[in-house]
This record gives sequence, structure tokens and C-alpha cells, in this order.
Amino acid sequence: MDSAAVLAWYDHHARELPWRVSPADRRAGLRPDPYRVWLSEIMLQQTTVAAVKAYFLRFTALWPRVHDLAAAPLDSVLREWAGLGYYARARNLHACAQAVVRDHAGIFPDTAAGLQALPGIGAYTSAAIAAICFDERVAVLDGNLDRVLARYYALKVPVREAKEALRGALQLAVPERAGDFAQAMMDLGATICAPRAAMCLVCPLHDGCEARREGEPTRYPIKPQK
Ligand code: ADE
Repeated sequence: MDSAAVLAWYDHHARELPWRVSPADRRAGLRPDPYRVWLSEIMLQQTTVAAVKAYFLRFTALWPRVHDLAAAPLDSVLREWAGLGYYARARNLHACAQAVVRDHAGIFPDTAAGLQALPGIGAYTSAAIAAICFDERVAVLDGNLDRVLARYYALKVPVREAKEALRGALQLAVPERAGDFAQAMMDLGATICAPRAAMCLVCPLHDGCEARREGEPTRYPIKPQK
């Protein structure tokens, strides 16, 4: 996969998101705040970017640092979470903030393995934070990425039967700018390689994409047989 083309596309088309450091600022040496990236990734687990933005701004206004969130009463956190659903996520969020303060002096671990030991942080979230904040060269594979990769490789089986193969293929493509690459692939999945439409003419992966070559990219990913 042509990660250089993906990064070049991202340099011009990155979405502006309140937890994100723009590719230009990132190149200039600015680093994303792991607290803000973690908070955004937990909120985004089952909720859209559009819905998360307002919650994210409210949370970071009330609790600008992990210490503030850890010290907040659980009731207030649950109240502010109302509408995002899945309250276990909010409980884990609070527990995680407390663990970071109690066990890590308020500093998030800087590896996917270290992050995954914290409450509420699974394989996807730990990889996303480690890539975005620390440029760890890990494969960041979520549902959007499954679709992009299933199309790119014209995957003839349902994604769940090929998870490890997709992860391996993505891992080989992760460049030095691992964080920007992960975010670029997320943006690509959200804006260009969308579920019901694929805007192949403006896609940076146009040349290598098997589904585009076949002519019907929205055939993929193949649905599991019921
Ligand atoms: N969806 C989940 N995490 C995201 C991120 N960091 N940027 C854009 N979309 C996302």
C-alpha cells in the first residue's frame, strides 16, 4: 500500500478536529496531548465524530487535564456523558483517569502495550493512542479501516475471517509518520471510501486498489452468510 500517497493526501485534506494536531503543526514538532487523544478515542468508540465534538469540548472545558477528571465525582462524569450511551465506557473513563494519576504520576504510558493495561483501553484504542501520540508503528484497524482494506485487496471473504491478514498487511504499510498515517486512513474511510459510496477518482489509493480495478468497490466488504 502506498502510504506516501496517503500521507501526501492527508497533508492537504486532514479534517480539523478539536483533539487533533494538524499535519503541518505535527511536522513543526507539536505533539498531541495523550489525555485529549485518549478521551476522544473512548468517546468515538460507538459514536460518530459529529456527535462527539460537542461532548469533547464540554469535557475538556470542565476537566482540562487528567488530574481534573480523576478528581471529579463519578456522578458528574456520568451526567456529562448522558447522551453518549454505553455508561460502562464512562465508568471506565473515570477509572482510567484515576489509574493514570495514581499509578503513572498523571502521565499516560507511551506504548500500546502499556496503554492496554489501563481500564477501558483495548487493542484498537491502545494502538490508536500510541500511533497518534507517540508515532509507534502499530497497525490501527477499526471498522472503517476494515472497509478500506477489504476494498483495496478485493477481499473475497468476510473481514472477520481475515482480520489477522488485514492487520499484517496494514502493519507492513505503517510509515515513520505512524500517527498521521493512522489518522489519514480514518479520514479516508470516513470521507472518500465511505460505506455506500466510493469516490475513487480523488482517492490516494486509486492506483493500487483492486476493487476499483474490478469496477464495483461497494461490493466490498463481503457480508458474512447468515
Ligand atoms: N475515529 C476514531 N478515532 C478517530 C480519529 N482519531 N480521527 C478521526 N476519526 C476517528
